[in-house]
This record gives sequence, C-alpha cells and structure tokens, in this order.
Amino acid sequence: ARITLRQLLDHAAEHGYGVPAFNINNMEQGIAILEAAKETDSPVIIQASRGARSYAGDLLLGKLVEGLEVQYPTIPICMHQDHGNNEETCASAIRLGYDSVMMDGSLKADGSTPADYDYNVRITSDVTRMAHYVGVSVEGELGVLGSLETGMGEKEDGHGAEGVLSREQLLTDPDEAARFVAATKVDALAVAIGTSHGAYKFTQKPTGEVLAIDVIEKIHKRIPDTHLVMHGSSSVPEELLEIINKYGGAIPETYGVPVEEIQRGIRFGVRKVNIDTDLRLAVTAAVRKVLASNAKEFDPRKFLKPAIEEQKKLCKARYEQFGTAGNA
Ligand code: G3H
Ligand code: 13P
Ligand code: NA
Ligand code: ZN
Repeated sequence: ARITLRQLLDHAAEHGYGVPAFNINNMEQGIAILEAAKETDSPVIIQASRGARSYAGDLLLGKLVEGLEVQYPTIPICMHQDHGNNEETCASAIRLGYDSVMMDGSLKADGSTPADYDYNVRITSDVTRMAHYVGVSVEGELGVLGSLETGMGEKEDGHGAEGVLSREQLLTDPDEAARFVAATKVDALAVAIGTSHGAYKFTQKPTGEVLAIDVIEKIHKRIPDTHLVMHGSSSVPEELLEIINKYGGAIPETYGVPVEEIQRGIRFGVRKVNIDTDLRLAVTAAVRKVLASNAKEFDPRKFLKPAIEEQKKLCKARYEQFGTAGNA
C-alpha cells in the first residue's frame, strides 16, 4: 500500500522513530529494501534522484515500484522524489504518482551555487501549493550541505561550491528554519548539520565540532511539529570498505555518520534519514568479492544475488537501529 510522507512521518513522530529513505535505481535495490522491510515489519521510503529516473527510465522505475507494492502488500511504501531541482521535476514526479517530492531550493536549479533565501521560499512555496492540492507531501531544504572540516559547501554534483564558507553559512539557522517552514508549508525540512553526500564526509570519526547534532536539537525546539530530514546520512561501514579494498578496490580511509549520532538526531525530531552511499558500497563489496574470487564467473545473477543480500543486511540493520522495525 502507498502512503504519503506526511502520514508516515506523523506516525514516526508520534511513536518516536526514524525512517531510512533509501535511494533506488534498479530492481536489486528494490528487492533488498522490501525484503528487509518485510522481515522487520517496517514501513518504507524509496526515493529516486533525477539521475535514477533517467538511468532506469520513469516508466520502468514506476512499474518497478508498482510491482514491489503488489509483491509486498503489507508494507506501506512512500515513493519520493529526491532533490527535485525545479517545479517541472516535482510536477512530473507528481504526474507519475509519487507520494512525496523534495524541492531542493537551497541550490540554484542547475546546482551550481547555493541559492538565496527568497528564491528558496518562492520556488518551494510554489511546489507545496501544487503538491498539496493533489495530496502529495513536500520536503524542503534550508542550508548548505557541506563540510565543517574544510568549509566547502556542496554543489549538486558533489563538488565544492566556490570559496570557503563559515560555520554560520553552512549550518541551518533555527530562526530562519521557523520562518521558512511558516512561509512554505513544507511537511518535512532537510537541515544542514555538517554532513555531505557520498563516501567522503569526514577524515576521522566525527566529533560534535564537525557534526552538529546540537543544531538539530535547537531547530527541533524552535519548530517541534516539523519533521526533520538528515541528508548525507550513510555511515560508510568500515567492514564494507575492507571487503572492497581486499578485492581490488582502492577507497581511501574515510568516515561517515555514526549510527549513534543518527539515533541522537532521531531523539531530537529527525524522522527521515537519507541513505544512498551505504547501498552502493554494499553492492560494490559483494560484486567485487564474487568476481575476484571466481574469475571464470559471468552469470550476473551469481554476483547480483549477493549484492541483494548485502544491501538487505544493511537495510535491516538501519530499520532496527532507527526504530522503524515493527511499525509497518
Ligand atoms: O543526493 C544524492 C543521492 O545520493 C543520489 O545520487 O544523483 O547520483 O543518483 P545520484
Ligand atoms: P549519502 O550519500 O550519505 O548516502 O546521502 C544520500 C542522500 O542524502 C540522498 O539525498
Ligand atoms: Na542544501
Ligand atoms: Zn541528499
């Protein structure tokens, strides 16, 4: 069954849990996410980036989710547009039957630079009006995802925006967040607290200086009824990096967001936790291991089945760690 983001996160807030939002690009990810949800009795958020939509194609991606819905009838599924960049991306997602859209007006439409506040309010309000008219939920974003270690803000392509930004410029301001939510009527708000997309978030296990969970606490106190979203929330498990590097990979030492910190965030109002990189690492670890150990293997099912299993393990762990389990 399908569920809007608003319905799902209202339930999560009422019961004090968080929901991982896993990115989807293909069938193996869909099976992994839903099998894990079934085994843990968890509701699901599946999100598609613009890149995912063009990779799989809107038609196939939509039919894949429809298929998952039929195959897992007891699991509530919220299909969400990740990082919509303008009204048209969100409008097309709504036409395709998505339950929720993110209008990321924190960046200009081409992803080149952090946008100004007024642009963000205007474009996000436009999307909220359109989406709410047809019962679709909206996530907005305020603040610049980026590194408090380097001061580099993130552009949409994952590379640094020009210039070094201050702590104030990078982190979401609680008062501005309150004004933004009142002006735009978003159902959920993505906040910037020092995380960034991809595997290279921190050069060592993050402290409170570079991962500002205290800012989440302040924002939550200011707008307790707004569901908060953490982007860039992969934990970059060391075990996966080890497998990848043991079987021919060369990923340098790097750290993600520790699960305990996400759990603290959930205590302070974080309800949606975006995870893409961890699934990518799981796939890469599984595929590398099979292919490096069996040089004669060429049946894709022989490495994609382990890729499903490795992703499923990761999904199950997050459903349990975030308290999602048991809430389907
Ligand atoms: O926000 C970034 C997500 O990890 C999606 O990445 O745009 O490469 O599909 P992508
Ligand atoms: P990660 O790169 O940490 O998995 O973040 C994904 C994300 O925020 C998608 O919007
Ligand atoms: Na941003
Ligand atoms: Zn994101």
